[in-house]
Amino acid sequence: MSVTITEGFLDHKVFSIVSDCADRMGVRAFVIGGYVRDCFLGRPCKDVDIVVEGSGIELALCVAKAVHAKVSVYKNFGTAMLRYKDLEVEFVGARKESYHRDSRKPIVEDGTLEDDQLRRDFTINAMAFSLCKEDYGALVDPFGGIRDLAAGIIRTPLDPDTTYSDDPLRMLRAIRFATTLSTPQRHFTIVEESLDSIRRQLGRLSILSKERIAEEFNKILLCSKPSPAFVLMEELGMLHVFLPDLAQLKGVETQEGKGHKENFSHTMMVLDNVCALEEEAGVGPNLWLRWAALLHDIGKPRTKKFEPGTGWTFHGHEYIGAKMVPHIFASLKLPLNEKMKYVRKLVLLHLRPIALVTDEVTDSAVRRLLFDAGSDIDDLMLLCHADITSKNPRKVERLHENFKRVEQKMALVEEKDRIRNFKNPITGDYIMEVFGIPPSREIALIKDAVKEAILEGEIPNEWDAARELMLRKAAEMGLKPIGPDASC
Ligand code: CTP
Repeated sequence: MSVTITEGFLDHKVFSIVSDCADRMGVRAFVIGGYVRDCFLGRPCKDVDIVVEGSGIELALCVAKAVHAKVSVYKNFGTAMLRYKDLEVEFVGARKESYHRDSRKPIVEDGTLEDDQLRRDFTINAMAFSLCKEDYGALVDPFGGIRDLAAGIIRTPLDPDTTYSDDPLRMLRAIRFATTLSTPQRHFTIVEESLDSIRRQLGRLSILSKERIAEEFNKILLCSKPSPAFVLMEELGMLHVFLPDLAQLKGVETQEGKGHKENFSHTMMVLDNVCALEEEAGVGPNLWLRWAALLHDIGKPRTKKFEPGTGWTFHGHEYIGAKMVPHIFASLKLPLNEKMKYVRKLVLLHLRPIALVTDEVTDSAVRRLLFDAGSDIDDLMLLCHADITSKNPRKVERLHENFKRVEQKMALVEEKDRIRNFKNPITGDYIMEVFGIPPSREIALIKDAVKEAILEGEIPNEWDAARELMLRKAAEMGLKPIGPDASC
């Protein structure tokens, strides 16, 4: 056992309580996995994994009693979890078999710490801090996790074929860790032996549940520079399994000596730009805005055309792309609720602001965009700025300036007309009350006429003007007000 004493990392009271309980039970307990790794990386971590040479559930029950916490027991997995102060602490018995929640293999809990460490995914995730009385705080690192952490190396403790075949999700986790742990100071790479093993075992990816894949994608997307993960997935052939439409963006076709933009690397730049712009603005990270960046040009392969004389076009790719969003979300079991609708909306609208750049643009076009984007207009504009990926600095500056002018125009129109969170001043209930009619088609027609007139600037976004138009439209349809409105 190594004897590096890791003072300071185990200051939280929970560790001494676990140590006392394990001592009373006569078992050895350790902190293991991500918490240990993140301590050395100086990253805050609120999830603690405790491994015990014995029953994880029994130790959890003992700790829960000592701290008066509620404990959740997952008998099928042989694990238990409790919250104590700011930490979420999970307990598991040391295993001889591979450790992961979805394992269909029987749980064998009679392993030693070293057995358990050997069956974990990466050396950097297999380090442990002892909570035993005799060497409290010692680092137990039989596979050189600390050396790999310092060198930025992702390596499996066992032969990679075994580690990846135990749980194929680890192939994606390798890419996730290589990407999310990388910083400008320390770049993480996956060892060649592991990459070769991943290439050999790609077929095993199809057995993974979509939820676990989506969780990894989301964690990747939430980091400060996600593109390397997608580039590596594409190179290894993994993207073709998980997100074939994204993989389709790769490549450049040439006809009559004309090539088009390489849409995959463009998308990668847009994604990273969104992350950088969010950071610059002190907002986010907005996972769904990042999904929108990833999918903003997803319709391009299906709309690509070569028009002699003009060159390559992608007409309507925003419509096709928006239509693809629900299918892509469903294929990864991502939510199909308002999050998906938000992504679909941004994909659909991502070209609209550019159309507002010309001087002759009408207020009604600006109003319509404000109406369509609603409260997501700022996110849309951030995506548009991120979509500028030209290599020509003068062009980049000009395009950003154009968008700033659009934003100014929008601010002016918004101040005047308050369209951003537009609510029709005329409601269906009001129309039914004034004309004494039941729910009917006429109501939708009247409401729509009022909305259109406001967006077109024919009437101001005000109650009196809206009511007057309602009465006029209703009269054209042969409707007469009843009650106190009858004299109108
Ligand atoms: N683990 C594993 N194989 C998996 C998943 C997890 O060996 N497929 C082990 C690793 O030792 C890992 C620990 O279980 O460190 C906890 O897993 P998890 O919470 O998913 O990852 P963390 O390493 O804690 O990292 P993060 O919280 O960033 O996901």
